[in-house]
Amino acid sequence: MNNSPLDKNLVEEKIKELRIPDVGKASIREVVALVNAVEEASDFKYIRMEMGVPGLPPAQVGVDAEKAALDRGVAAIYPMVDGIKPLKAEASKFIKNFLDIDVAAAGCIPTTGSMQGTYAAFMAAGNTNREKDTLLFVDPGFPVQKQQMMVLGLKYETFDVFNFRGEKLKAKLEEFLSKGNIHSIVYSNPNNPSWICFNEEELQTIGGLANKYDVIVMEDLAYFGMDFRTDFSKPGEAPFQPSVANYTDNYMLFVSSSKIFSYAGQRIGIMAISDQLFNRDYPDLQERFMGTSFGATITLRLLYSLSSGTSHSAQWALTAMLEAVNQGSFNFVEGVKAYGERAKVMKAMFLNHGFGMVYKTDLDVPIADGFYFTINYPGMTGNELVANLLYYGVSAIALDNTGSEEEGVRACVSFVLPPAFPKLDERLRLFNENFSN
Ligand SMILES: Cc1ncc(COP(=O)(O)O)c(C=O)c1O
Repeated sequence: MNNSPLDKNLVEEKIKELRIPDVGKASIREVVALVNAVEEASDFKYIRMEMGVPGLPPAQVGVDAEKAALDRGVAAIYPMVDGIKPLKAEASKFIKNFLDIDVAAAGCIPTTGSMQGTYAAFMAAGNTNREKDTLLFVDPGFPVQKQQMMVLGLKYETFDVFNFRGEKLKAKLEEFLSKGNIHSIVYSNPNNPSWICFNEEELQTIGGLANKYDVIVMEDLAYFGMDFRTDFSKPGEAPFQPSVANYTDNYMLFVSSSKIFSYAGQRIGIMAISDQLFNRDYPDLQERFMGTSFGATITLRLLYSLSSGTSHSAQWALTAMLEAVNQGSFNFVEGVKAYGERAKVMKAMFLNHGFGMVYKTDLDVPIADGFYFTINYPGMTGNELVANLLYYGVSAIALDNTGSEEEGVRACVSFVLPPAFPKLDERLRLFNENFSN
């Protein structure tokens, strides 16, 4: 690594100081801490691709509405645990306009980010039926959701969908569901980290099996509309964001404001529970939490206990942002397309310097350019690649953090601005020069 653009000893010193036993296996937060430490101790700036943080300014319509709400004094008032009425109404309209799905306003509930939404959902779903004590992650996936399951002390199983796309998905899912212990299926679409998107046939398979085995599908739409191959940005007009909600009533959708509105700091998202699931009585759940319906248990028992609702001013911000997109005066997809444009250029650089793509296609269609992409390098495990890239001033996380069985790393484009592209290109060239021999 003599051609490395940074001081190798400094990286090693910081790895020791932070007591990271195997840097290739470091968690996202450990990679963040290491890169921060190296940057603070030198003039060197990394190309940072490890974190999935929005890199764009927040939607102004939200900021303005939130400021106005604070000026009106909402900070003094506890919001309703299940959300303020205008937000619930706009969220229900949003789901109609962009998914073409009817969900009553009652089932559209703000949470402090989708993070809290899934936490409450896992807790509720995990107690719906004594015989079903296990959740199924269709991986690769968002690592923190597994941490949530660990914190809750709940069981889960997982498989990497890489080799089970299209027609193969049904048999693979049935392998798990037929055992009778699964209460829910979780996946993100578009997928963090791989940016694959299930097609209609795959969603139909998942929905059909959810009906057959009576399991809840938790569809995480953190990157709503960001499959830029199709324009999902016109309210009330096809094409609509694909969803399992077209194929089952046993669903919960998670719409985060973090990426589509770059509103991550205010911690707000919407959990949308189908009317049927919201009103369903599960005797075991009622006994466990002394509640009534599934929906009322989530709001009046779980969200009430967790945070007693979502920040009042942020609810007004999200109301305004959803209202603007529902009216067609704000195109949220246009606002985040920059990520796709960056991904296109960055992927080409990696490929040009000897790297390969890991998750490449949705069956026979190339995946979209979006917030994340996955790359490998010949002869290197994902963990080795993370470690070696760190010595070349590029930070990323290994795919094994995400439940993937493939060797490679996840790259996030959000922090890499176009002026840094020549630097990235040069570092990848040096990396390849060193390792290609
Ligand atoms: C798939 C997925 N779900 C949920 C989240 C978290 O969303 P929020 O910021 O709304 O809690 C993320 C954030 O990176 C994500 O990638």
